[in-house]
Amino acid sequence: MEAARKSKVYKINTGGLIDKQKTEGNALRDGGIKTKNTLTLRGRISILSTARNRIHRGSSGMVNPGLEGVVAAQTAICFIDGQQGRMLYRGHDIHDLAAHSNFEETAFLLWHGDLPGPGRLAELGEQLRAGRTLPGEVLDLLRAIPRRTAPMDVLRSAVSFLAAYDPDAASHTREANLRKAVRLTAQFASVTAAWHRISNGGDPIAPNPDLGHASNFLYMLNGTIPDTEHAKAFDIALILHADHELNASTFAARVTAATLSDMHSAVTSAVGTLKGPLHGGANKDVMDMLDEIGEISRAEDYIREKLAAREKIPGFGHRVYKTEDPRATHLRRLSEELGRKAGDLKWYEMSRVIEQAMMELKGIACNVDFYSGSVYAAMGIPSGLFTPVFACSRITGWTAHLLEQYADNRIIRPVGAYTGPKEARYVPMDSRPA
Ligand code: COA
Repeated sequence: MEAARKSKVYKINTGGLIDKQKTEGNALRDGGIKTKNTLTLRGRISILSTARNRIHRGSSGMVNPGLEGVVAAQTAICFIDGQQGRMLYRGHDIHDLAAHSNFEETAFLLWHGDLPGPGRLAELGEQLRAGRTLPGEVLDLLRAIPRRTAPMDVLRSAVSFLAAYDPDAASHTREANLRKAVRLTAQFASVTAAWHRISNGGDPIAPNPDLGHASNFLYMLNGTIPDTEHAKAFDIALILHADHELNASTFAARVTAATLSDMHSAVTSAVGTLKGPLHGGANKDVMDMLDEIGEISRAEDYIREKLAAREKIPGFGHRVYKTEDPRATHLRRLSEELGRKAGDLKWYEMSRVIEQAMMELKGIACNVDFYSGSVYAAMGIPSGLFTPVFACSRITGWTAHLLEQYADNRIIRPVGAYTGPKEARYVPMDSRPA
């Protein structure tokens, strides 16, 4: 028993930073307390001990599946404490920003590191307004794409295409990259809204220069100026989604940039990565699930059946958070407020039942994607656009990380632990089995 324990190697997780490895036997001797999946040592230090968390030794070194807990870059943009459910942008608590900031100001904070004064904020507002009008060729591209195309595929293609029309495409200075970051932020909203109109057989709506970023997006989407409550709720949702440390799409963007490829290429990588159902694609899957459940009374049984079939429930679980995702706290509140305003709390109430069932049956809390669906639905955003809407916010975090990567770059090139054969012999075609 003692020998078996000693043979396992675990990560020691200190509030989001993995600083060393330790055997379970050593940790227990040091006063660690073991539960089914955790081994806690000296208060906040915990060792996660599920099978997937185990670090495997391959012929070329240690393998940590999914790079869990691997520290892959230094960053001063976003801090997450997954044990305490804490999240900061540039040192500012996300709860504080959700309560007091707006999307434009938060974007400035991510890009520059400090909150802007009134002059700098007004300047950014002007730059974003100037970036909203898409080149005619990009609108032509959107008109040419088959209407059944998934909105994330359209966004990915459009970003790539936009590079050809960007006046700073050939320049890679920090100033040029900042201008591209601002332009892309404006263009993401315009592409998403324009595609919604075009794919439904209509024409894009020209941006309204009197409106801020959040209101203008809803205006370009629905053709009506949103009321204050909807505009504010959407603005908060944009703040909450703007960055999240080295999430998969941000990491993909940084890997691309680290080859010294350009910003549009890196952002294209990020869009393709966000699309996946284990990442940004989960918010659409949540709404599809709520639709499929249909009635609140069916929600608990549905979850039991899915879990019994060992299926994942979209909008739950997180690689970093072991407690409530602080973003979900705001989105839950917004889901209730907007549902109440619309006189229809069905999605909110169904979500509450699912959340309670997941906590009771699996002990897993919801993530940012769970309530964002019902919040967006209450604003008239169709579920097919949920992931592009996520991208419309995350573009600020991606580009902030790209600026950081370019400022202190080294190519990101890990190694693989080879598990294949080493002495395979070439067999001529006529000697191989048919
Ligand atoms: N529903 C049911 N069980 C879940 C779950 C979910 N959404 N998320 C995690 N689990 C369970 C796994 O089945 C696994 O259980 P096991 O140890 O008994 O096998 C355990 O929790 C660990 O899950 P794992 O998939 O290894 O975690 P991960 O860190 O590799 O993946 C996610 C993290 C986010 C990809 C994962 O939780 C997930 O797929 N969630 C659903 C998709 C989603 O909402 N994505 C958006 C993330 S912001």
